Amino acid sequence: MTESSDRLVLVAGELHDLSGPDPEWPGGRATLFHQPGSPLPARTDVDAIIPLVSQRVGESEFAGLPSIRVVANYGVGYDNIDLAAAARRGIVVTNTPDVLTDATADLALALLLAAARRLREGLDLARSGAWDGWHPTQLLGMGLQGRVLGILGAGRIGAATARRAAAFGMEVAYWSRSASPAMESEAGGRRIEDLEELLASADVVSVHLPLTADTRGLLDAVRLWSMKQGSILVNTARGAVVDQDALALALSSGHLSAAGLDVFESEPEIPAELRGLPNCVVLPHLGSATRAARQEMWDLAAANASAVLAGDEPLTAVSLPST
Ligand code: DGY
Repeated sequence: MTESSDRLVLVAGELHDLSGPDPEWPGGRATLFHQPGSPLPARTDVDAIIPLVSQRVGESEFAGLPSIRVVANYGVGYDNIDLAAAARRGIVVTNTPDVLTDATADLALALLLAAARRLREGLDLARSGAWDGWHPTQLLGMGLQGRVLGILGAGRIGAATARRAAAFGMEVAYWSRSASPAMESEAGGRRIEDLEELLASADVVSVHLPLTADTRGLLDAVRLWSMKQGSILVNTARGAVVDQDALALALSSGHLSAAGLDVFESEPEIPAELRGLPNCVVLPHLGSATRAARQEMWDLAAANASAVLAGDEPLTAVSLPST
């Protein structure tokens, strides 16, 4: 802990390498780095917190930190924060949009390609020493040219993924509450208002939805089985949008040909069934994991916390429910 004032900003300890040991805060507030994996402390001298997306911040954490004015989440997703509780206490919540869009869309494409071209099976075969040579029908995958990519959610990362897929010759369809000019003008995306219609027609479905009460379990067994035979699922958003058990069954039965998953319902747990399936490419939540994106996420989270502490508008506030 570095303490030069009585008031503190509580920062997730794992951010130390990005923040430097002694970030500056308005009013000479000092930084208290929070030990990874331990519960948030209860103390009255903390005015702001910068948590990771894996840190739950709800009623009991707010009760233990009664003076905080801002939760500057280190991530674009904020399903780890109880927004209603924050609104009741007048606490500002911010996130880190934009700065991780390209990194996450790149990873969605990496997973899409890995799943479509069976990279996991190819790597396993090459590494096993058992490869016996080139064969005309060995590990045949899906080519992307002319295939339909169905995007769920038309936010920044969905649109950036669509642009990349369009460059691979894919046709883009998307499902979202409202029309997205970016999706349509930049990727030629066609909006499909009926989720079932999109699922039944897409060769690849890529999830780019926030986790909310409405999207939790959205891709349940019925919807996964309504996806096109032999299609592919990619998820770089939140694991709980998909029913993981039903997905394992859809993959092991061959109904879906492959999946590329970066996110899981109860991280860091990755279900053994999904880990074991050769047609399932799993990654440990690497979507925004480039040095530049992670640094810019810090810079934005810190700027948001500083703005609120200085009495200014934050750069990227999350809308809170009305109380
Ligand atoms: C986020 O920002 O919400 C990601 O899941 C972590 O980069």
